[in-house]
Amino acid sequence: MKMTVIGCGYLGATHAACMAELGHDVLGVDVDPEKAARLQAGEVPFFEPGLSDVLRRNLAAGRLRFTTDPREAADFATVHFLGVGTPQLRRGYGVDLSHVESAVDALAPLVRGEHLVIGKSTVPVGTAAALAQRIAVLTAPGSHVELVWSPEFLREGFAVEDTLEPDRLVLGTDPDRDDSGPARVVAEIYREILESGTPFVRTDWATAELVKVSANAFLATKISFINAISEICENVGADVSTLADAIGYDGRIGRRFLNAGLGFGGGCLPKDIRGFMARADEVGAGRALRFLREVDAINTRRRAALVDLVSDAAGGDVLGTNIAILGAAFKPESDDVRDSPALNVAGQLALRGASVSVFDPKAMANSRRLYPTLDYADSAAAACEDADVVVVATEWAEFVHMLPEELSGVVRAKVIVDGRRCLDAAAWRAAGWRLVALGGPMRVTAPQIPADGAEPIETAAPQVARPRS
Ligand code: UDX
Repeated sequence: MKMTVIGCGYLGATHAACMAELGHDVLGVDVDPEKAARLQAGEVPFFEPGLSDVLRRNLAAGRLRFTTDPREAADFATVHFLGVGTPQLRRGYGVDLSHVESAVDALAPLVRGEHLVIGKSTVPVGTAAALAQRIAVLTAPGSHVELVWSPEFLREGFAVEDTLEPDRLVLGTDPDRDDSGPARVVAEIYREILESGTPFVRTDWATAELVKVSANAFLATKISFINAISEICENVGADVSTLADAIGYDGRIGRRFLNAGLGFGGGCLPKDIRGFMARADEVGAGRALRFLREVDAINTRRRAALVDLVSDAAGGDVLGTNIAILGAAFKPESDDVRDSPALNVAGQLALRGASVSVFDPKAMANSRRLYPTLDYADSAAAACEDADVVVVATEWAEFVHMLPEELSGVVRAKVIVDGRRCLDAAAWRAAGWRLVALGGPMRVTAPQIPADGAEPIETAAPQVARPRS
């Protein structure tokens, strides 16, 4: 089937390449000539595992092409995916819909005949209904554009997998019109995915829009829940990681998204819960989402808590100390530094007078752009040179599997702060390091009592276990 994908950022570029991978003829459309040219040359403008292979394979097969011209899009296909960005407004918690609006403004007047626009961007509830009216005004007499909403749930780092093997497909249609035609087209586009048994949830516009933000609100709540519990654990010397394992065995709870630590960041969860709260206020249901303010506050507090923990580890004050920050991306397998907890902490430590050296396996260029005043190193070992404290802020495999011996001869003091509770605490301590973890003590988990019958290794670091005033 022929289709266009309008907006070739993270979501759109992935979607365009993956639709071509399913065998469709795809035209990617973006207003940014540089982005379109790079994609056309087979270059993914961001780091996403596996995506460049899919992109190049489909460019070579002639199933995928990129343009900046909306007229070409209107002529190329009658099906158009909409995957432009919906960032947070510069002022307040609301969502900036200007890209969505300008995309339909550019396309609608140019289409002739019957077209289908499939919205994928994350939008506040009510957006599809408003856009449909906007499109109707702009469409030429005798032509019609049907609008449906099919939100995208992909995770950065797993974007290809999540697009080609999603947990579910959701399709929201105009509640006042017969949706059998658009539903047939969407089912045909995703035939291969649906045939493999993927659930297909058909509903109205508003429900589809809400599914997406509700899912992200739930994930954010789950993370902040465990981080709130970690604040209790810090005060009483309990191990939140073992606690998460134990409650996670309950099938109703589940272990995923219960990793305590520095909390969530990135271009989606923080923005989406804020946009959701703003929209709830607008529709007169603000009270329903008041708890999300607390979710947001707990999350933000983790950053300050890590800064305090690093200061404690440095002897009470970071002024004049050397701090190595390992990790800058908001999560591993990504070069995205939008609302990155790691860089936020690095910035706060620098403001307190520390010399901060940052290393990330993939996010160096983006970090330099966002925080040009921090110092950056070319490797983990280089960042740790003469460090008084080493901080793991993003749990890249490279850091998780790092051997203490690799850094022992490099640092000034063998002190490491695990902001993601991802290190093998016993191994670091056995190598003579003082390890403290954000969220309270980390005991040796598997097995808790070593097989030789010796006592469990003492892991509770005094400064994280002591009650806070
Ligand atoms: C998220 C949603 O998962 C995805 O479905 C949606 O489409 C976009 O937003 P993404 O932003 O790529 O995806 O990242 P995700 O893997 O969800 O992680 C979000 C943040 O939560 C990261 O900063 C991560 O470090 C943090 N996190 C995640 C935790 O702090 N603890 C956890 O247990 C899990």
